Amino acid sequence: MTTIKATVNPRLLRKASRLFTGTLAGRIIEILQNARRAGATRVTITNCDGEITVRDDGRGIEDFQKLLDLGGSGWDPQLEASEDPAGVGLFCLSPRPLLVESHGQCVIISAEGWTGKPMEIGKSASAKTGTELSFTDEPWTLDTVKPLAAFTGLDVTVDGQKCPKEQFITGQSSHHPELGCRIKVVRDNGLAMWRRSVVQSHEFGGNVLVNFHGQVIVFSYRPVGGHDLTYLVDMTGETTGIRLMLPARTCLVENPALAQLQAALELEAFKYLQGQKHHRLPYKQYLRAKELGIALPEAEPVYRVGLLWANGGYPEPVEVAMPKGHALSQCYRLADSQEGDESDEANVHLLAALGQFDQPFVPVDIGSEYDGYAWAKLPTVGRVEVTAGKKLQETWINSGTLICVDALAITAHGSDGKVFRAAVCMAVKPPEPTKDGQRIWFGESEVYVTPQAQQELSNGEIWFHLGGYNDEGDTYETQEYDFDKELDAFWLALAGPEEPLRCQLLDCLRDLAKGWQSVTIQPDGRVTIIQGDGITKTLLPPKPAATPATSAAAGQTIAARHEPTLLRVDARELATILAALRYHQAENLQDTAAIADQAISDIASDGGTLKPLHSAEIDQLCQRLNLNNT
Ligand SMILES: Nc1ncnc2c1ncn2[C@@H]1O[C@H](COP(=O)(O)OP(=O)(O)OP(=O)(O)O)[C@@H](O)[C@H]1O
Ligand SMILES: [Mg+2]
Repeated sequence: MTTIKATVNPRLLRKASRLFTGTLAGRIIEILQNARRAGATRVTITNCDGEITVRDDGRGIEDFQKLLDLGGSGWDPQLEASEDPAGVGLFCLSPRPLLVESHGQCVIISAEGWTGKPMEIGKSASAKTGTELSFTDEPWTLDTVKPLAAFTGLDVTVDGQKCPKEQFITGQSSHHPELGCRIKVVRDNGLAMWRRSVVQSHEFGGNVLVNFHGQVIVFSYRPVGGHDLTYLVDMTGETTGIRLMLPARTCLVENPALAQLQAALELEAFKYLQGQKHHRLPYKQYLRAKELGIALPEAEPVYRVGLLWANGGYPEPVEVAMPKGHALSQCYRLADSQEGDESDEANVHLLAALGQFDQPFVPVDIGSEYDGYAWAKLPTVGRVEVTAGKKLQETWINSGTLICVDALAITAHGSDGKVFRAAVCMAVKPPEPTKDGQRIWFGESEVYVTPQAQQELSNGEIWFHLGGYNDEGDTYETQEYDFDKELDAFWLALAGPEEPLRCQLLDCLRDLAKGWQSVTIQPDGRVTIIQGDGITKTLLPPKPAATPATSAAAGQTIAARHEPTLLRVDARELATILAALRYHQAENLQDTAAIADQAISDIASDGGTLKPLHSAEIDQLCQRLNLNNT
């Protein structure tokens, strides 16, 4: 018969250095672990010029061959049963040269030594017990070693400085001999600094911390909802089926022992909550605890007042408040969802927030996972109606339509027969029923407001129902600014077509230092203000510069203004122009060079920027005008 059998190929040895992730923390953990397994109580680490020396006071090494036996270990049987050593740990130092001294013997394992070349054992001058390892590495600083040494039970010093030694579990815990561990449940925020730093240093975080003899494995397992619980699992050294995944040993192997551990964690969580006397467990888990023989009281009521929330930011909807002394049992839940219920949810919320009632109307939101508890059984509101009056104005703003109506009311029908109806200044337009009576919500908001909404609501409360902040768009401030602008324009337009102009004018006068009683604006730009103190102030439009410009640039402007302009006038107009020219010539240009009448002088010189035509030039102009017109 031909058979096959498993063998270890020596090629594996050459790859041994790759069994590890190559982290400094990984190396520290392996070396401390060996010292602890050797029964050491003390480990001294020294850094000297890039060389690390680790000395322990354990039982030392009799058989040096064990050091390089990939897959083989030299520990006692109880340790084999509790820790399942893999015989690979020391290879985390390969391929760096390693000097090992113990029991008067020493060996230098070179790079080739790690991959199979025979290494000669020599005599060591030091007759110390325990084991000493020397190798080159980046510094093993106190800060790096501290968290890794904290729960090993060893007294570790780094360059003469002591690492703190911590109890992984303090106070009471429950012993699970079948799993070789003790378990303690704590609230997340009840974690001591040490443990918290371990959780935070773990890449993905987690809420189960297993102290595997100094090496802390963190993973996530949340058998109960409604509570942030952390589970501390301290291995005792008893025989256990809990195994670390090789080679990195940063997580647990998924085996029956892990499933058993998870069941134990669930049980411990329920026991912990039993001890707390109150809890927020979903109903199913409350029943599960009962099934496991742990009697718990009903969960404390878990609810939110109102039905709408901003998802952790702004804008926020109008707030619904719980009146003082109002019992939860007098509140309402929204009936099970139907199509169109998004608008129902919004309208029930708005009715409660904006409506006036003799008896308070308070809707609350309770997660369906709490259905089953007596306190969660509340009357519901099902049918919701919106009645809107005459439409005054409608505009698309942000991502919805804002419709202003002259009257608005919401009615909600309670399952207890009560009807809540009130006038409101805002409501969401429910989707129109289709032919078969269904209401389909297309996600497009149509929001009703009455003119009162301008006074009663903040812009954000309206924005909330018109799409709110879009996190894929501009910054929050920009979007808010744009929305405010559009909404302001909406209210202005509602007040009439002239309202924007009136507001603009008033806006300009808002900052007048002395206030004002009246302001008159003339078409020529003159403004007369009778100030708040009664003094009249006249503002004239600025005069054009009086002195002719001498610069090259100004010269060009004047030259440009000498370009002929084409003037189209009819015969009567031309006759008047000619008459005016002749009158001007006769009245203003006869005696002196300068024009006496200031107003006429301003016109003839275009505000002092041109040299007025003199009498002879006016003759020529009149001639040209006459000629061109024939
Ligand atoms: N500090 C030490 N004191 C005494 N013996 C040691 C020490 N370090 C290593 N050894 C011996 O060397 C062997 C190999 O160590 P190595 O770390 O490679 O494997 P292991 O500890 O058996 O298993 P694991 O892969 O879980 O670390 C050990 O089984 C032990 O016999
Ligand atoms: Mg080891």
